[in-house]
Amino acid sequence: MTDRYAVFGHPIAHSKSPQIHAAFARQTGQDMTYEAILAPIEGFADSVASFVATGGRGANVTVPFKEEAWKLADRLSPRAERAGAVNTLSFDADGITGDNTDGAGLVADLTGNLRRQLAGTRILLLGAGGAARGVIEPLLEQQPAALVIANRTVSRAQELAALFGDARLTACSFDAADSRFDLVVNATAASLAGELPPLSPAIFTASTLAYDMMYGRDTPFLSFARTHGATTADGLGMLVEQAAEAFALWRGVRPDTAPVIASLRT
Ligand code: ATR
Repeated sequence: MTDRYAVFGHPIAHSKSPQIHAAFARQTGQDMTYEAILAPIEGFADSVASFVATGGRGANVTVPFKEEAWKLADRLSPRAERAGAVNTLSFDADGITGDNTDGAGLVADLTGNLRRQLAGTRILLLGAGGAARGVIEPLLEQQPAALVIANRTVSRAQELAALFGDARLTACSFDAADSRFDLVVNATAASLAGELPPLSPAIFTASTLAYDMMYGRDTPFLSFARTHGATTADGLGMLVEQAAEAFALWRGVRPDTAPVIASLRT
């Protein structure tokens, strides 16, 4: 029987995940299907349960269900435990295992596709919500000299930094981030609203990479960074890399991401 996989979200119609996983399956010769499932806002757990009952082997989880998936899992990987959110579920006889491949996806895009060394660098992370939290530990594993979390609500950034208890990790307001960084990652929801966080141009130099986790359109953040001399990248590579990491967990084979990223760009 063909193995079934899916992505759960609300909304979900515009998800690129079915296209990405179909490309991975073709490339690696895996016999599987991957569909997009719109779970009701109040019905995520029920929706997952009926998918498992009808042969579901694994699932990705996207907005707004990642925290709920974290609670739903019977077991969590260490990285999912610390991320406080789950984007990848695996179903077997022992129940539901939750993992989080978002941070690994970001790091793979930065270091592999974009060829950025992160060791010894200064990284500025904008935002203190679930998207930011998920990438902190994988970024720290790259041994940056400093990782600064800046957020509109400073107390949220401070709480998040305290959670990890790492001397390289500090928190501040957007105003207080006013010196140069090698990498600036936008993990706020500002781009979704077409807004620009109030950033100082002093954070950007010609060698800065400005990275927006959002993809599919030029954002005010990327355009501001470019105006101030930085190189820019959107989150399409991260999307494909987190999918590849999930695919490898489920199927035991690692797909080649480059042709999939290239085809989604055209
Ligand atoms: P997610 O899971 O996508 O991270 P979230 O937990 O709601 O969603 O967090 C959204 C993040 O985007 C927060 O850091 C939020 O800042 P606050 O903590 O101050 O609310 C940030 N954010 C949302 N809209 C923003 C805007 N217009 N400008 C700057 N930051 C914004």
